[in-house]
Amino acid sequence: EKQGFRHFMLKEIYEQPTVLRTQLDAYFDPEWYLQTQNPTVGERSRITGSNPPSAPASSPGLVQLNLPQSLYENLEQIQIVACGTSWHAALVGKHLLEQWAGVPTFIQYASEFRYSPPPLTANTLTIGVTQSGETADTLAALEMEQERRKSHHSPAYQPRMLGITNRPESSLGRLIPYIINTHANLEVGVAATKTFSAQVMAFYALALDLADRRKTLKAEAIESIIKKLRELPPLIERLIEEQDDYIGELAHQFNETSDFIFLGRGINFPIALEGALKLKEISYIHAEGYPAGEMKHGPIALLDAKVPVVAIAVPGLLYEKVLSNAQEAKARDARLIGVTPKDSLEAQDIFNEILAIPTVDESLSPLVSVIPLQLLAYHIAALRGLDVDQPRNLAKSVTVE
Ligand code: M6R
Repeated sequence: EKQGFRHFMLKEIYEQPTVLRTQLDAYFDPEWYLQTQNPTVGERSRITGSNPPSAPASSPGLVQLNLPQSLYENLEQIQIVACGTSWHAALVGKHLLEQWAGVPTFIQYASEFRYSPPPLTANTLTIGVTQSGETADTLAALEMEQERRKSHHSPAYQPRMLGITNRPESSLGRLIPYIINTHANLEVGVAATKTFSAQVMAFYALALDLADRRKTLKAEAIESIIKKLRELPPLIERLIEEQDDYIGELAHQFNETSDFIFLGRGINFPIALEGALKLKEISYIHAEGYPAGEMKHGPIALLDAKVPVVAIAVPGLLYEKVLSNAQEAKARDARLIGVTPKDSLEAQDIFNEILAIPTVDESLSPLVSVIPLQLLAYHIAALRGLDVDQPRNLAKSVTVE
């Protein structure tokens, strides 16, 4: 049921904070978090013994994915196969797995992997990401990988497989022994929204679990990240409420627009790709996502006053860089839309419009920066009177290769 929303997609955008809360409780020890918020609760439970033993002072045990150590033992490499939006979530995951857990991570389109498989590497974890668990390309790639590894003589090459899915009961769940459930409930809109955020959250948990076991992050750093993740759902709730009407109004400006460019860098590059995919899928507007620094190597030739440029500029390591890439676009008369905190005078100067996001750590920012892009795609498509939930030529799960 749409519960009063005009489309399932909008309802699903609004459901994201709830999904993230469910995941946070499932992936990270809620008892520990309660104690950090209100230490007396912990005291009492220790005295009465009515609750499970209190969380240890260091981080082991805080991440509760319950994955066996055999998946992680002597890990040298991770490869991830996925399609579409799930592939974008995997790109965010790559950043986290490399930067936090220090494991070289390679992302493959499932449809390419099967026919150009990379040479087998030892001690490699293969992750399949698919919200439906039924995408034929992803299943075929994973099956092939499992088979070729099983027939290898050396134990170091044997399959280690992990699935990230919203449907553990799916074909993926039957193929792969270990699954991270993304807990997003049924998603009806063909354009993935809440399942994308949920996949990203699953990668935060996985990267923290790995970082913890490999000791690449200190216990205090892991705890601090978990606390900050816990702060996101109310921020995202407010963000959706504040931006929904504003973006609905803004969408009127793009009635005649036929091309959009999305720019991001670092962990927000995949969000630029995701923003462009959402817009293409449901509004049928041509859109491209680029790493902002790559624009000057070609795509900048596309720019003129008719091509809006959406730049994700999150305070942190790459903030100034993105702003200067945005300036380059502005110099070509592009209409500039910033996904950025509104309190920066510098940003106010550069952008024609600001889709304001709260300031959060750069490493956690994809979960907030994607929201205005989902809303932008939604409102433009809805204004054009298109079938937002069932766009032409697309199906919710693609079961042909
Ligand atoms: O079910 P999956 O996650 O495997 O689906 C993969 C893609 O088909 C899917 O993400 C597609 O790109 C969506 N329509 C994106 O909104």
